[in-house]
Amino acid sequence: MNEQRVALKEETLDPADWDKFRELGHRMVDDMIDYLRTVRDRPVWQPIPEEVAASFREPLPDSPESIEQVYEDFRERILPYPTGNIHPRFWGWVMGNGTATAMMAEMLAAGMNLNQGGGAQSGGLVERQVVDWCKEMLGFPREASGILVSGGSMANLTGLTVARNSQAGFNIRKEGLCGSKLLRVYASTEVHSSVTKAVELLGLGQKGLCLIPVGEDFTIDIPALRTAIQEDRARGVRPLCVVGCAGTVNTGAIDPLDTLADICSEEKIWFHVDGAFGALAFLAPELRSLLKGMERADSLAFDMHKWMYLSYEVGCTLVRDPEAHRLAFTLTPDYLEHTTRGIAGSDLWFSDYGVQLTRGFRALKVWMSLKEHGIDTFGRLILQNVEQARYCEWLVKEEKDLELIVPASLNIVCFRYKGLLTDPAALDALNKELLLRLHESGVAAPSYTVVNGKYALRTCITNHRSKREDFELFVKEVLRIGRELEKESLR
Ligand SMILES: Cc1ncc(COP(=O)(O)O)c(C=O)c1O
Repeated sequence: MNEQRVALKEETLDPADWDKFRELGHRMVDDMIDYLRTVRDRPVWQPIPEEVAASFREPLPDSPESIEQVYEDFRERILPYPTGNIHPRFWGWVMGNGTATAMMAEMLAAGMNLNQGGGAQSGGLVERQVVDWCKEMLGFPREASGILVSGGSMANLTGLTVARNSQAGFNIRKEGLCGSKLLRVYASTEVHSSVTKAVELLGLGQKGLCLIPVGEDFTIDIPALRTAIQEDRARGVRPLCVVGCAGTVNTGAIDPLDTLADICSEEKIWFHVDGAFGALAFLAPELRSLLKGMERADSLAFDMHKWMYLSYEVGCTLVRDPEAHRLAFTLTPDYLEHTTRGIAGSDLWFSDYGVQLTRGFRALKVWMSLKEHGIDTFGRLILQNVEQARYCEWLVKEEKDLELIVPASLNIVCFRYKGLLTDPAALDALNKELLLRLHESGVAAPSYTVVNGKYALRTCITNHRSKREDFELFVKEVLRIGRELEKESLR
């Protein structure tokens, strides 16, 4: 026995020298705080050099390297080449900046490394409180349930799973979809692709998503929706759910949510709202009326890593009927039985309300940020972004060489360089190249979309670091590159 003990060499992943590790840890914190503080001095984005990209093909490490060396590697090859969304002039897709507090909260959460699936631990209480705060800040009833998820896509999938299971008319968890009649979800043609993906993943197929046309303001055509539901019923299709868009990804349009809620209640179908970023406009009292009816949703999906600026990843699904929510996901084998005492002794099992069993402590950054800033600060920042969108729109309208493609709605401005060009294909080509040169210049980063058949520079402002002067520089740079390209096209 003693001989065996001597022979056994036990290992751990803990640092061999904690003091040295502490020194490095402090340096990492200092470096990242400096990195955030100086973000404005750097280009928004820069391409990854060939040799750096190629260096990521190194073989699987089989022997150790010092953590100091690994960190240097991170500083040289990884840190300088991000997407750019922490920068004050990043307005592409729908990306938040992250915050200094959320960054530190991520470290604290990783240090605790608790498992948010369930059990008697403080993280569950934090998440329950965060979900309660979410209900309160978005006008949802106290009795509703909710869960933090990775983002809008998972939030939509979670809400639509509850919708499908509770509206199918049979025990879908038991029977599956085989042999059932066509079940259908309705949403406008502007709905986000994550809803299409969710409908596909739920086994309803693309045929299970009925896309309803939009009007000139990009909101769902209500008479067309009513007709589609009636026609489907007449041919034996079972309508499951209407998805309302609270802020479409292309233009920020908000469907008439109150009317959608009326239709769903008349038709006895589920009302889900995809409010990935737009739902958060509710935090600004000046914008709240735009979202009238959202509080009547059966399920609501939104993202705190978008218009609450928190670091990735954190989204949320709220469900009005907690039992329907639980029934869609709960599954308790012997090895996960919930006890009344000990580590499993809790009624807080988030794994009963979502796809994941093991879950990280994303609630901590939300909890710390809400406490640090207070909800009114977020409301003011959201309003600030909407006002910046109006300012950007005004700057665009002032320039005869620019064309506003749709009036700014919420926080999104879509426009393009026009100059003296008239040919639609030439305009699309010029603006595509303009966007690439703008990204490569590192000055500003909008993204792109196609609206009414026109390729547009799309500026979506979910950025707590932007200032008015940033939009002035942006418009100036678009004009400079646009004119340069127009001249090139005439040569
Ligand atoms: C309206 C809308 N819904 C859903 C999503 C998906 O969210 P996520 O990227 O967090 O999964 C997005 C993303 O931009 C969105 O704009």
